Amino acid sequence: MSARILIVDDDRVILELASIILRTDGYSVRTAGDGILALNLLAEESFDLVLLDFMMPGKDGLEVLQEIKHNFPDIAVIIFTGMGSENIAVNAMKAGAADYIIKPFRNHDLLERTATVLRSRRLEMQNRELLAEREHHLQEIQQWNLKLERRVAEKSQELDAAQDEIIQAEKLATLGHLAVGLTHEIRNPLNSINLFAQILKNDHAAAPQSVEFLDRIQSEIDRIDNLLIKLLAVSRAQNRVDSVVQVDIVAKDVLKSFQPQLEAQRIRLQEQIVATPLFHGDQEEVRQIFTNLISNALHSMPEGGELSVSVVPILNSIQVKVSDTGCGIPLEDQARVFDPFFTTRKKGTGFGLSSVLRIIKTYKGKISLSSQPGQGTTFNVLLPLQMPVPVSVQETPS
Ligand SMILES: Nc1ncnc2c1ncn2[C@@H]1O[C@H](COP(=O)(O)OP(=O)(O)O)[C@@H](O)[C@H]1O
Ligand SMILES: [Mg+2]
Repeated sequence: MSARILIVDDDRVILELASIILRTDGYSVRTAGDGILALNLLAEESFDLVLLDFMMPGKDGLEVLQEIKHNFPDIAVIIFTGMGSENIAVNAMKAGAADYIIKPFRNHDLLERTATVLRSRRLEMQNRELLAEREHHLQEIQQWNLKLERRVAEKSQELDAAQDEIIQAEKLATLGHLAVGLTHEIRNPLNSINLFAQILKNDHAAAPQSVEFLDRIQSEIDRIDNLLIKLLAVSRAQNRVDSVVQVDIVAKDVLKSFQPQLEAQRIRLQEQIVATPLFHGDQEEVRQIFTNLISNALHSMPEGGELSVSVVPILNSIQVKVSDTGCGIPLEDQARVFDPFFTTRKKGTGFGLSSVLRIIKTYKGKISLSSQPGQGTTFNVLLPLQMPVPVSVQETPS
């Protein structure tokens, strides 16, 4: 498409002359006899170049030039000036004109300057487009970079979580080996001590005070033995999944057994227990989950408060929530409460949550907690309803 040129001059002869020269050379040309007409035309049609007379009555060339540069910065302007007014030309160039032509001009001069200005304008615009494109590409690259960084961060977080799980599982396994071995080693001599204490008690000649002491020895032995049994329970690796459990009923049952303690501690109970589908698992283990979570909640509220227990089926899982309004768990402890032996209680064993975690893991479930120190804690458990293939099943080679 040929370049579109607007010639602005109050001298009709110049207008016609310049039009003929430029049209003959293939340009599409429009003319305007004064500045106002020129600006009106510029607002209606698009032009590549304006040839502008500097000395015009009404709006003079400088004003028109400034308005063109302000409103249509992409249009190139060449100024016509009279002989001996080179300083005008300099001012015009400062105001944004691309070149100037001194009147009277030669045909050849007009054509050459027009062509040069149009060529450099085209180059300038191409350059600007390239720069914009480059900027666009840079932005795209930056966005990709951001996305990539985000994905790397996500992946490393997943990796961290997976590693944490492995460490946790290793700890539980180590505890298991240790516990099973040690428990048997300790329970044998403990049995003997118990037996001898019983023999001494059965001696009719024993002094009453000795019998009382022997009773105490036996009750201490019982305490140790109970601890060892709990330890064994934590480390038991497999759950029996041959039976089905009505989780809502187990929850209600456990709550009932805590009733006297709730009353003694003046704890209000909020329960939302909905009938759940049958869960394939071991009733005793499900019981242990509730017992531990509820007993921890009660320990956290020695001055009373509110216990909320909810059991609801959602999607393919049973969701269990146990919340308290107790002391809460400091942030630095939150990652450790599931560790075997971690306890902050004088009489605690630190087995509770680690065995809850072990049980839930063997059912491929999930447990998480949220806690505000000083305000309370919520434990959130998800027990999946469909049991995946048991881990112990060996794959047959194909
Ligand atoms: N609901 C809770 N509120 C506040 N702290 C809790 C709660 N549940 C668990 N904890 C913290 O986690 C620790 C470990 O709990 P657990 O494994 O049951 O062992 P134990 O009850 O024998 O201390 C507790 O000593 C306590 O610090
Ligand atoms: Mg506990």
